Amino acid sequence: MAEDRRTLLKVLSGVVGTSVVGAVAAPALRAVLAPVSLRTVTGVGELVPVVALDAIPSDGTPVNVPVVVEAPMDAWTRQPPTTVGAVYLRRTEAGVKAWSSICPHLGCGIDYDAAAGKFACPCHESWFDTDGAVASGPAPRGMDALETRVVDGMVQVRFEKFKIGTADKEPA
Ligand code: FES
Repeated sequence: MAEDRRTLLKVLSGVVGTSVVGAVAAPALRAVLAPVSLRTVTGVGELVPVVALDAIPSDGTPVNVPVVVEAPMDAWTRQPPTTVGAVYLRRTEAGVKAWSSICPHLGCGIDYDAAAGKFACPCHESWFDTDGAVASGPAPRGMDALETRVVDGMVQVRFEKFKIGTADKEPA
């Protein structure tokens, strides 16, 4: 009888001990592993507001604006607002168009030459028309167009990076 009681107590203490460890370990494990099942990098590749529509000249002159991602998140770390790139925006009859300011040749920053009325990359002298098409120079493709839309008077852009040096526009 005493032996049975001792066995029962051993089993009960084992069950209680295991439950206590599980109760403590499960939430901790869940907290550590949470990003594994979540989308952990946010910001780049999403439509983000970049500038008010009114700030874009109605005469078709392009403007260069930074793309700032609010509180991007990378795994466990939430970062302060971060500038992830810059885009050119231009009003056209078909609406606001957006292009990455990264040159598809070797990745330099593209300028806008107002006197010439063209985009220009100073590194190896690639020139682009105002619709982003290559006008001259070594750039293997036109400027990379980006998805854009207007919501509540704000222009939103989906900023993405593409491979440089390729004739086709491929995700980087
Ligand atoms: S990086 Fe723009 S022309 Fe070479």
